[in-house]
Amino acid sequence: MIIDWESLTAKAVEAMRTAYAPYSQFPVGVAGLVDDGRIVTGCNVENASYGVGLCAECGMVSSLIATGGGRLVAVSCVDARGMSLMPCGRCRQLLWEHGGADCLLLTPEGVLPMSQVLPQAFGGEDLAAVRG
Ligand code: THU
Repeated sequence: MIIDWESLTAKAVEAMRTAYAPYSQFPVGVAGLVDDGRIVTGCNVENASYGVGLCAECGMVSSLIATGGGRLVAVSCVDARGMSLMPCGRCRQLLWEHGGADCLLLTPEGVLPMSQVLPQAFGGEDLAAVRG
């Protein structure tokens, strides 16, 4: 599948502009290409109880599932300047769950597979290995 990083990032910027980030003043937007060709997006949504704010990737993954599921094949996450932003640790786990090792992420160091963004990731296989 050919990935148009420019238009995927433009969708992430569009989503970033809808962020609700009155506490951090740090809007984030993210866009993901799904294996069936659709694009899902998300923005961060904060809360007066700072610790329970939702990252942009949470919204994107909710949208992924709510619109039919599938696998993320490419993701672009941006800050207020439209620059590539590395997902936080928790969100790397979310991307791993729904994209896996081969999902590509646009990073400040170029396009990297999730296997490099979250090395030796914990995943469902670890649960299965013990559960039997
Ligand atoms: N944030 C995201 O939305 N995604 C990330 O991967 C990093 C952090 C948000 C959370 C909070 O609303 C703001 O950025 C500042 O941490």
